[in-house]
Amino acid sequence: MPHAKISALGCYVPSGVMTNQDLERIVDTSHDWIVERTGIEQRHIAPKDVATSDMAVEAARIVLEQRGIPANTVDAVLVCTVTPDMLFPATACLVQNRIGARGAWGFDLIAACSGFVFGLTTAAHFIMGGTHKRVLVIGADTMSRILNYKDRATCVLFGDAAGAVLVEATDDPAEAGFLGHLNEIDGSGGDFLRMPAGGSRMPASHDTIDQDMHSVHQEGQQVFKYAVRKMYEVSRDLLAKHNLTINDIAMLIPHQANRRIITAAADRLGIPPEKVLININRYGNTTGATIPLATRDAWTQGKIRKGDIVLFAAVGAGFTVGANLWRWQMDSPNGPPV
Ligand code: UT7
Repeated sequence: MPHAKISALGCYVPSGVMTNQDLERIVDTSHDWIVERTGIEQRHIAPKDVATSDMAVEAARIVLEQRGIPANTVDAVLVCTVTPDMLFPATACLVQNRIGARGAWGFDLIAACSGFVFGLTTAAHFIMGGTHKRVLVIGADTMSRILNYKDRATCVLFGDAAGAVLVEATDDPAEAGFLGHLNEIDGSGGDFLRMPAGGSRMPASHDTIDQDMHSVHQEGQQVFKYAVRKMYEVSRDLLAKHNLTINDIAMLIPHQANRRIITAAADRLGIPPEKVLININRYGNTTGATIPLATRDAWTQGKIRKGDIVLFAAVGAGFTVGANLWRWQMDSPNGPPV
């Protein structure tokens, strides 16, 4: 059976920065509240003419260039997003066409903040099943397009970005990357975090616009409590399933929704702070892109090295919950664009 490994990683973050002070001028909030309650200091916002596929294409091109392969050797393109350019065609099709991945198939994967973890799991199984050699997994979201900048409880939380990895086949057991997963969905929590309108239940109308139904609606505390509990439980249970402990892990790379969620879950796991990647201060919650962005930081800062075991964990709208264990198989970067 072939093994799956991550063989390239690239991110794209739009250059425009929105600081907490910028938000103070838009809604009734303060830098101190945002930092204290979330850990966020700034987020990047895409220009008006940039959509999710544009950022996804940039991240995908970095991956292809870094790996030194033509796009037409990619077997599948998965775009993990809740902010596709449009409902259809899938953003995966737009990206596939723009990068020139002729002959590939693919699809959009809607799992909100767990999207990238679900994408990694899916790609790993495509590879291990022997039917795919190279799968591009992209997490990309332009959250600024679905925020209501009059709702201070949500608009301060999110930012825009894209991140991508190439998941590739290897026959060498020493090169095996994917070790295992534990993913769940729990639709009983669906009402706590959602964008109510724009689908078949509540198509766009003057009413849905007047009632602000096309933006993120969240019961923050409900999501917070669930996220802490599940991020802890799924990480604990996945480690136990593989007879591993926190000591075996080089780094926990969690979804970045709130610094307090991450530290509370990490405390319960008993993992020391230096083994927990947090970069929410710079990017906010970029939904599908947080884990590749955090992984890039861990990799480029030398916090994860070839051979290390990395634990990815995420909780998102749905609810969706995911954890993956991967052995990091990339050399430390020395020059390539990341
Ligand atoms: O990635 C997807 C999953 N999403 C999440 O994981 C988010 C989970 N939830 C959270 O991170 C937190 O619940 C929030 C950051 C959204 C909110 O923090 P909180 O500590 O749970 O605040 P709260 O909702 O309990 O609100 C406390 C107070 C309220 O005022 P009153 O009623 O006590 O007077 C809010 O109106 O804070 C107020 N508040 C704000 N104040 C200043 C809410 N948002 C803001 C704001 N600036 N931006």
